[in-house]
Amino acid sequence: MSKRIQEILANMSLKQKIYHLQQVTTATYLTTKESRFEIITGPNSAVKLDKEMVFDVGTSLNLVGAETMIDAESNYLKNSKYKIPLMIMQDVIHGHRTLYPINLAVAGSFDRDLAKEVAQMAAKEASLDGMSVTFAPMVDLVRDPRWGRVMESSGEDPYLNGEMAKATVEGYQGDMGPYNIAACVKHFAAYGAAEAGRDYNTVDMSERTLREYYLPAYKAAVDAGVKMLMTAFNIVDGVPCVGNEHLVKDILRDEWGFDGVVISDYGAVEEMIVHGAAENKKEAAYLAMKAGCDIEMMSSCYAEYLEELINEGKITEEMVDKSVLRILDLKEDLGILDKPYRSVNVEESKAVQLSPEHREKARRGAEESAVLLKNDGILPLSKNVSSVALIGPLANTGEIHGSWHCGGKAEETISVYEGLKNLLGDKVKYAQGCQIEYDSCDTSLFDEACELAKNSECVVLCLGDHQEYSGEGNCRANIELPEVQYKLLDRILEVNKNVVVALFAGRPLAIQRLDKTAPAILDMWMPGTEGGNACANLLFGDAIPSGKITMTFPRALGQCPIYYNHYTTGRPKKEEDDEKFVRFTSCFLDMPNSPLYPFGYGLSYTSFEYSKLKMDKAGNIRLNVKNTGKRSGCEVVQLYVQENNPTVLRPKKELKAFKKVHLEAGKSTTVTFELNH
Ligand code: NOJ
Repeated sequence: MSKRIQEILANMSLKQKIYHLQQVTTATYLTTKESRFEIITGPNSAVKLDKEMVFDVGTSLNLVGAETMIDAESNYLKNSKYKIPLMIMQDVIHGHRTLYPINLAVAGSFDRDLAKEVAQMAAKEASLDGMSVTFAPMVDLVRDPRWGRVMESSGEDPYLNGEMAKATVEGYQGDMGPYNIAACVKHFAAYGAAEAGRDYNTVDMSERTLREYYLPAYKAAVDAGVKMLMTAFNIVDGVPCVGNEHLVKDILRDEWGFDGVVISDYGAVEEMIVHGAAENKKEAAYLAMKAGCDIEMMSSCYAEYLEELINEGKITEEMVDKSVLRILDLKEDLGILDKPYRSVNVEESKAVQLSPEHREKARRGAEESAVLLKNDGILPLSKNVSSVALIGPLANTGEIHGSWHCGGKAEETISVYEGLKNLLGDKVKYAQGCQIEYDSCDTSLFDEACELAKNSECVVLCLGDHQEYSGEGNCRANIELPEVQYKLLDRILEVNKNVVVALFAGRPLAIQRLDKTAPAILDMWMPGTEGGNACANLLFGDAIPSGKITMTFPRALGQCPIYYNHYTTGRPKKEEDDEKFVRFTSCFLDMPNSPLYPFGYGLSYTSFEYSKLKMDKAGNIRLNVKNTGKRSGCEVVQLYVQENNPTVLRPKKELKAFKKVHLEAGKSTTVTFELNH
């Protein structure tokens, strides 16, 4: 810690130091009517935010826009006695104004550079709007598609999660220059293991499972130099994460040596009372401070009770000092002690946001992330087609960003309809077909859609979920496609067999029925700002699918949790995908054990052949990969291991390395791996 921040600290009163640990909404500081309203009744109502403390608060969250940032920061500085600039944080999850595909999709590109570059671009847009910190990456390992937040994660594999965590942190933070922002890895720990995939629900697991599967990605972010970490809402081993000394103090601080800022999740310190872990706000403040949480987001237990706790000798002023120093250190690191407005720039922001360069990356990212789930040979479609019927509730909408769309706008997003028209002009005609609501039974638009399908050479059918059916607070007990969408597909197939389905969703869906009926399925996930162009390019062969799924697709929800790196059991069923029930083996009566699509799965328009696999004594592995098809394409070469006779059991299969290679038709290359981890 520099001398400068030690001096700042020395000049702060105890009250001011405590208030520096408080986080409120950035809108609190706007000079508009809305902000004054918000202080009393808005999201801040859980915070005892009085005039005395409001201009001593150290950090704020959320608010998009350069002008609003300037307004908020200048109002803060004008009224603040000590004039330590506010540090503004925001959920920049998969882009800021330009939205890239959701994180689950980007992970499926298996492209570290892509993950890094989209984070870099998002950081640039966000920094020009005055953001200093993003609440990302979210690296929670996930195994249950009911959980809405799987869209923010990179899936079910600890190694891949760690690689994506590292790339993303590097992308956001870079060398902490003016166009970088600090990253905040979350949600520590194991938030992705909430029971039944229900948000905020209980997490319980062995220490071994925690350490082997759930912790590695947070650790990878820490090793990559992440500046902040957010604790999770859930309990682990009976203790809420924000007050969990074992997690925050023993593992994060002492074992991993993390000395960055720890922040609670939204209101989570006070929620310890609802959990039943704390009797009142004072005890909640005590538990969180003792565990090592520096910033309290959107509840005010610290502000109200830390002084009392210090006077009673329960916690020490040094503990508060340490937390304040960490925050000041980050402010210094970001340069905001000297430049309170940091990189905010109204004009530059306008020029950079949605720039051709950013749009291009968004399009390529969506092309690289899409997964071809099924193709009976109909794809790619020919651009010489005479007429295309574009049908479906996701065909003509810009709401294909996915949750956490930050500053992104639907009207600035290329819908599939626009994308197809950009490629094929007025050969494309559109009919909605049905409503998007998951409980809709309305078939009144079927006839119009079928008429169009009948009179067209081929049909592009855009099915799936509304973008807000996944994300925080959007868990589902049913992950099937809505019945009305299946009915629409069936009716269309009666009049035209040339149907390809473009699927949009923020999670793996249980689409066994779709797999049986649709001739081709291209999973676009939630592709972001350039989703429509990417979809058109992929369907018509201007881009070749290469994405792989990083979260298993179940045949039915009853198989969940389902993931590839599971143990063998003492009574495995011999053929996992055998339909036959084998009594007294580990299986279901009514369904195979195997998933619909496994981790790492994804088709291409070309084919690849592996040969000459060799491993030397040092663990170096070489193999030959050949593009045996007629088109160029990318292949994700994945290296899995299985340990023989371990003392403590290991899963059947574990991903240990991967490389993505691009090969022209007929060409081959040697791929090497060093198996040293
Ligand atoms: C709650 C979410 O769990 C967290 O991920 C997010 O960063 C905060 N809200 C702030 O918006």
